[in-house]
Amino acid sequence: MISKKMEKIMNEQINKEMYSAYFYLSMATDLREKYFDGFAHFFEHQAQEEMEHAMKFYEYVNEQGGRIILEAIEKPQTSFKDVEEIFDLSLKHEKFVTQSINDIYALAVKENDFASMQMLDWFIKEQIEEEGNMDKALHMVRMAAKAPHAMMMLDAQFGKRE
Ligand SMILES: [Fe+2]
Ligand SMILES: [Fe+2]
Repeated sequence: MISKKMEKIMNEQINKEMYSAYFYLSMATDLREKYFDGFAHFFEHQAQEEMEHAMKFYEYVNEQGGRIILEAIEKPQTSFKDVEEIFDLSLKHEKFVTQSINDIYALAVKENDFASMQMLDWFIKEQIEEEGNMDKALHMVRMAAKAPHAMMMLDAQFGKRE
């Protein structure tokens, strides 16, 4: 069983993960329009992962006898200045999600909710990876931004993400 407070904060996290999927899909669409198919592929994959994150919370709350309440998903930004802005916003967004996961963890600690802590451990590790990946990507995009040729090569490289 989880507390009402934990149920509420996890429901909010489901919404944040769904929003993340929307946000990345919106970026992918903008990138497709600009023929950056590799980067678009990367963000489509990213969006899928965010849906999986939402489902992990969905399943956990159900398993723990909680009730899922699905709220409206905020409309994401629909157009972006350039590839650099997209990765910059992505890194900022991942930092925001990390903070959000940390807040849930802090509540679990406060409530001696060891089951939730164990479930959240996966997300703590995942966020280290997510932030690291975006940070690295942003650095590469910033370097490539100075030369169209380099940007095209980077786009092709991002298209290879499994
Ligand atoms: Fe996520
Ligand atoms: Fe993420």
